[in-house]
Amino acid sequence: MAIISPSILSADFSSLAEECRKIDRAGAQYVHIDVMDGGFVPNITLGPCVISSIRKTTERVFDVHLMINEPIRYLKDFSNAGADIITVHYEACKDVEKTVKEIKKLGKKAGIAVKPKTDAELLLPLLCLCDTVTVMTVEPGFGGQALIPETLEKVKKIREMIDKGNYNCLIEVDGGITKENISAASAAGADIFVAGSAVFKSNDISNAIKELKTNAENA
Ligand code: DX5
Ligand code: ZN
Repeated sequence: MAIISPSILSADFSSLAEECRKIDRAGAQYVHIDVMDGGFVPNITLGPCVISSIRKTTERVFDVHLMINEPIRYLKDFSNAGADIITVHYEACKDVEKTVKEIKKLGKKAGIAVKPKTDAELLLPLLCLCDTVTVMTVEPGFGGQALIPETLEKVKKIREMIDKGNYNCLIEVDGGITKENISAASAAGADIFVAGSAVFKSNDISNAIKELKTNAENA
């Protein structure tokens, strides 16, 4: 089953609680929360205090995507704030293995994200440790960009690696996902689909989520 993870980066921040309830009611299984530090990426968004305040709006999975340098420093804060999945960037960690193990020690699911130019092969020794791999289908930093088609080749490669090793790891795609290209991402092997603009910039959030799900499942 396709998992839709709407990115609240494109939501109306003045009514974040209501935006979270809307995607919950529409059947999105996850809430994707983009955390940016103005260092790893050239944008700043939100931190643990915002996450803990929206935690009470929904019981859906909080899929927290940390685009911050040395995320190991803040894992406990995001865990306490109510994250269910904590994803760190391969490129942002001095010791990614240690970082993933720390996330697991906190009792959370651990994800590793890779930027468009980072090789899939680097993930091979880590697939046995993490619960999700996020393939960035745009350069991280901003919502509303177009998906980079070559990144779907990377999804295919990682799908093969996971299937070959029989790892218990889901593939997430993040960036530029639309109702038009979600089937291609699904056919490439993705399980979780992040969508910011496609959900929150549509006139009918509920219908947008349903369409994304249907198109992903009919790939
Ligand atoms: C980009 C973020 C994405 C992004 C998705 O750095 O990680 O989650 O906000 O938004 P859209 O779907 O608009 O590309
Ligand atoms: Zn994201």
